[in-house]
Amino acid sequence: MNEGADDGGGGGGAEGAARSLGCGRGGDGFVPSALGTREHWDAVYKRELQTFQEYGDTGEIWFGEESMTRLIRWMQKHKIPLDASVLDIGTGNGVFLVELAKFGFSDVTGIDYSPSAIQLSGSIIEKEGLSNIKLKVEDFLNPSTKLFGFHICIDKGTFDAISLNPDNAVEKRKQYVKSLSRVLKVKGFFLITSCNWTKEELLDEFSEGFELFEELPTPKFSFGGRSGNSVAALVFQKT
Ligand SMILES: C[S@@+](CC[C@H](N)C(=O)[O-])C[C@H]1O[C@@H](n2cnc3c(N)ncnc32)[C@H](O)[C@@H]1O
Repeated sequence: MNEGADDGGGGGGAEGAARSLGCGRGGDGFVPSALGTREHWDAVYKRELQTFQEYGDTGEIWFGEESMTRLIRWMQKHKIPLDASVLDIGTGNGVFLVELAKFGFSDVTGIDYSPSAIQLSGSIIEKEGLSNIKLKVEDFLNPSTKLFGFHICIDKGTFDAISLNPDNAVEKRKQYVKSLSRVLKVKGFFLITSCNWTKEELLDEFSEGFELFEELPTPKFSFGGRSGNSVAALVFQKT
């Protein structure tokens, strides 16, 4: 398990993050990439599943351990009831689901469009001896009718990945917002952590049907006399 990286990627430091999710894009916008495709993620998690089976290593935690603590701390501060329904969108290895369940959340669901990711999550959850976490292979851009009514939706790096899709990412981002509106309850919270989008850009992307509830502090970097945040972590509320 990688620790400590809170710089936009899973354990690989700032440089790894930039390579991994196209973080730190320039003014030209996104360069479409394989990182936005199901094939890429399925291959990643197939490899990570093998590593987990051989060595017990759970693999990358996007934005590091601190990103999970930050979200759980926020839920604690706002007294989110432990029986609130929580959806992790694009759960990857499902490690955040494990953290939520260990904290005491009893209605936790993870979805991912990569079957290997869901298989890996299932193996990790089983090894942890947790039985009440729900897992589903779902494409969030085309969610099943069963996926609805969540109090909390979480996204760590999934909107970033979708933004890199080589096939009409603009449309896919719009579809993401529609899906989010469908699955989240009115007044429900959406917690997003991103390294590809600034706070202002995220406000714009989620301006329809969502309002900013809180910005969560993330580490600042400074370089060449300029400073800023490499990761944005925002909480939106569905209006
Ligand atoms: C950068 S990884 C982040 C994984 C995890 N959230 C974490 O924090 O470790 C992006 C994840 O989003 C998933 N993903 C991308 N597009 C998706 C979609 N349309 N529907 C469901 N999952 C998707 C990928 O398979 C991958 O697991």
